[in-house]
Amino acid sequence: MSAWPLVHEAVLDPTIEPFVKVHGEPAYSYYGKMPEMNGLMRKAMSGVSVPFMTSVLDSYNRFKGVKQLVDVGGSAGDCLRMILQKHRFIYEGINFDVPEVVGEAPSILGVTHIGGDTFKSIPAADAIFMKWVLTTWTDDEYKLIMENCYKALPAGGKLIACKPVLLDDSNESQRTRALLEGDIFVMTIYRAKGKHRTEQEFKQLGFSAGFLHLRLYRVLDY
Ligand SMILES: C[S@@+](CC[C@H](N)C(=O)[O-])C[C@H]1O[C@@H](n2cnc3c(N)ncnc32)[C@H](O)[C@@H]1O
Repeated sequence: MSAWPLVHEAVLDPTIEPFVKVHGEPAYSYYGKMPEMNGLMRKAMSGVSVPFMTSVLDSYNRFKGVKQLVDVGGSAGDCLRMILQKHRFIYEGINFDVPEVVGEAPSILGVTHIGGDTFKSIPAADAIFMKWVLTTWTDDEYKLIMENCYKALPAGGKLIACKPVLLDDSNESQRTRALLEGDIFVMTIYRAKGKHRTEQEFKQLGFSAGFLHLRLYRVLDY
């Protein structure tokens, strides 16, 4: 009886995520209040990110010269742990996520967990890593996170953002289908205006936050 009217309401108001309609608040603050959900999310991210990062680190090696690295939205710290294990010259890792997530993260050699909010400020370091964080936000939110990244970096510092890139023209490929299906997931759970983006969209948003040079490295073929 209750499920159908809720689904119809969400469809009729495309500015509000169905998750908010059902739970009364955005997904991340909801997870934060529910330790079980929070734990599940951390486990899920580790489960997909560890094998994914193994492939990424096989082909992306541009960490040379980095001594301090902050992972923004780093969850339990698995990505940072793997980067530090491979690139021993990075002597300080900062795993930055919301307090409820880092509060339960395991201790990792060389890594400090710091709780905070990407929309307020990001700890300073000479490079930033950020994987699977920006897709869930609107263009304005994306820009705000990028501006905070910019402020956290020294002159010549670099932001390494790892995320899928949408092709300009959608086609029938498995890749396009997976990304568009991912958009539906993002729009349902996180932000009605969150989405995967094209190279041009990344360039424009990065440029508007002060990042003048964007280089794309293809790390996985699928
Ligand atoms: C999709 S997960 C990605 C986790 C990790 N980067 C990975 O690839 O395994 C997004 C992460 O962003 C974090 N996050 C969401 N909102 C945040 C905020 N306002 N400030 C800091 N972190 C946030 C979430 O807690 C979550 O760990």
